[in-house]
Amino acid sequence: MSKTSMAAAPNTQTDFLPLEGTDYVEFYVGNAKQAAHFYKTAFGFQSLAYAGPETGVKDRASYAIRQNKLTFVLTTPLRAGNPIADHIYKHGDGVKVLALRVQDAAKAWEETTKRGGKSYMEPTRFNDEHGEVVLSGIHTYGETVHLFVERKNYTGAFMPGFKEWKTVYNPASTGLQYVDHCVGNVGWNQMNKWVSFYEEVLGFRNILSFDDNDISTEYSALMSKVMSNGNGFVKFPINEPAEGKKKSQVEEYLEYYDGEGCQHVALATNDIVETVTTLRDRGVEFLKVPSTYYDDLLDRVGHIDEDLEPLKELGILVDRDDEGYLLQIFTRPVEDRPTLFFEIIQRKGAKSFGKGNFKALFEAIEREQELRGNL
Ligand code: FE2
Repeated sequence: MSKTSMAAAPNTQTDFLPLEGTDYVEFYVGNAKQAAHFYKTAFGFQSLAYAGPETGVKDRASYAIRQNKLTFVLTTPLRAGNPIADHIYKHGDGVKVLALRVQDAAKAWEETTKRGGKSYMEPTRFNDEHGEVVLSGIHTYGETVHLFVERKNYTGAFMPGFKEWKTVYNPASTGLQYVDHCVGNVGWNQMNKWVSFYEEVLGFRNILSFDDNDISTEYSALMSKVMSNGNGFVKFPINEPAEGKKKSQVEEYLEYYDGEGCQHVALATNDIVETVTTLRDRGVEFLKVPSTYYDDLLDRVGHIDEDLEPLKELGILVDRDDEGYLLQIFTRPVEDRPTLFFEIIQRKGAKSFGKGNFKALFEAIEREQELRGNL
């Protein structure tokens, strides 16, 4: 019997932290120039803005790239012995900042820090000839942070400190649209602490829960709770490992990331077959489920608009809930450590996260863990 539960969305009238969505995701990486090239070439981002010594930023180089409403920032340190270099030494490439768009960054900081959020950056104004951006921030799990970004008085390419980055090389979009959700992996017995953090400090609500009866294969087990802000624009599922016969995929992540951090970022598309075909042709590697997954798929999920054959060929998964269905697929880790990966998701009414696919998916992950000798 499933213990999955779904709660109503919170009341936006009393939302003390109104969020307009994800502003950007910043990755600390060993080589930002090459990472930017990878995300442009493989994922279809375009050059947007650059910051570095040439723009007066002495300790780092950052490349902002964009595709529709998705903005990534790839940042690398220029020397050893600073927090960015230390972050990469410890964690490898990974997500540092999940930046959230707000109307008032000072108020966002006041409301969250007075509720117990640990300050990462006091409200700070940044100006250039294009106007003003106000940033503030708080810490979340591991060394990950949330920045609050107020850019209503800014007309430049990205933000002060950056200059517009124009390149002749701008590969076509792959149809990726926006961040659907970002998942955090936390340590043993830490999930409820972070659920409380999102509830109390940011005013989120727990809209879905999965326990180890839902998410357990022969070997791998985890528990997960999905946190959503008031308007549902920002969703942060939190995973915790659970006891299984062998090492859980979340444990493997925690070991190789050397701590808690962002496990995957889910990117939305309006045409998953087209997007995944293009991503695959450009070299993005995806997890594969056995072809038997498709044998009784339509019995499980009912009618879908898509032809089965391309889904099967690409390895796209389908799940249905009370409100509709969704299509999803997961990349393999995008660095050599088995840490961060991406999900590509197309929602057709469904607001859930593909619970019906967990077993097939985790078995696919375990096959890869086995190859790494980590099962
Ligand atoms: Fe996901």
